[in-house]
Amino acid sequence: MERLVITGGRRLNGEISVNGAKNAAVAIIPAVILASGVCVIENLPYIEDVVSLVDTLTRLGCKCGFRDRHTLVADSSGVSETQAAFDSVRKLRASYYLVGALLGRFGEASVTLPGGCNFGTRPIDQHIKGFEALGAEVRIEHGQIIAKAAKLRGAPIYLDVASVGATINIMLAAVFAEGTTVIDNAAKEPHVVDCANFLNIMGARVKGAGTDVIKIQGVPGLHDCEYTIIPDQIECGTFMIAAAATGGRVTLKNIIPKHMDSISAKLSEMGCSVREGADFLTVEGAERLKPVTVKTMVYPGFPTDLQPQMTVLLCVAGGTSIVKETVFDNRFQYITELRRLGCDVTIDGRVAVVEGPAKLTGADVTATDLRAGAALIIGGLCADGATSIGNVKYIDRGYETIEHNLSSLGADIKRVRAEEPT
Ligand code: EPU
Repeated sequence: MERLVITGGRRLNGEISVNGAKNAAVAIIPAVILASGVCVIENLPYIEDVVSLVDTLTRLGCKCGFRDRHTLVADSSGVSETQAAFDSVRKLRASYYLVGALLGRFGEASVTLPGGCNFGTRPIDQHIKGFEALGAEVRIEHGQIIAKAAKLRGAPIYLDVASVGATINIMLAAVFAEGTTVIDNAAKEPHVVDCANFLNIMGARVKGAGTDVIKIQGVPGLHDCEYTIIPDQIECGTFMIAAAATGGRVTLKNIIPKHMDSISAKLSEMGCSVREGADFLTVEGAERLKPVTVKTMVYPGFPTDLQPQMTVLLCVAGGTSIVKETVFDNRFQYITELRRLGCDVTIDGRVAVVEGPAKLTGADVTATDLRAGAALIIGGLCADGATSIGNVKYIDRGYETIEHNLSSLGADIKRVRAEEPT
């Protein structure tokens, strides 16, 4: 049991390099199963979700080794197991990608239902609809998703919601399906494009990723590859917001500025300065932050995974801000914890009304999920006195050694064992 302890009040200043994208990594690692060969994947973030997935792949018979902290070498030629019912699977949301990958390669999969962050109902009906359209029989029994197909055939699939998970999962299952699969109303997030690029580098024929319509023409096999994962949009956004919240000046390197447009635009609207280079950007806070309205949307809209961090920033802006969550039905659970720091936020369904500027003071708080944990860190950086954050395991699922990055920018943050005095 560990906690992060932050003594707030310091401006963040300096530069850091952004890690590889978590949500691309957790799709690409299961996709290795389709290769039946050796994949070298670079720029993987070294985070709990990656470690759990690599462990799962190993148990399925894939030979996995880290060439260095961020490079995985995985040989999936020996995978023959199609059942993934391990503890490591249950912890993860992204374990659902094992269904698409195993079904795509072997025509069958039995995988424990996904876990992951809890912010309301997180159905997988669109994944199942896609697998069924390709010719699989899918049932849920004793907490397992069981999918089987004598033969997968390409089909048109219209998604009722532009789901990231369903789009990627159907792409994985359809790589070898006979004929053409067309996913309409597909998700357009950068990690969807990254996963499609990874499949194409191995010889798949996926076209249109990044638009509403993705076409996958089945191929007979894939080959070995080397691939570099894109930078993490959400990690970059978290540091941009932290810089703005502390009135600091931070340069984020190794990023794709285009992916950051919705965040850069909001920070500029609040009065911050955001300057872009080819693969970096610099955020400088404003003396007086203006209130704004933020509505989470699918890409290229403002990402739901930055909604909690943005809400904290709005707490220290002067005036009334509105945050509308349109992607998930219950992603304001962390507000109770924010209030312990002195944030003034009221919730009405999927809308939060934020009154600022609040004078934040340090408190003992608990991360209720990954991004909520990131929001509490930002709150702690702005608060007077010490903030101690529990449930750090959530934060470790998605941010690689976040306290080292923040310390290098001048934050007073340390990791302590829970029993140590804070
Ligand atoms: N939905 C359905 N049916 C489905 C699938 C989704 O109704 O079959 C609904 C969901 O309930 C939600 C909306 O569609 O209201 C979007 O869900 P989506 O499937 O896009 O989300 P996800 O695949 O479960 C991924 C990321 C999340 C991120 C969302 C939205 C991974 C492993 N997770 O989740 O990331 O919030 O997309 O962008 O890629 C995070 O990194 O902290 C995180 C939670």
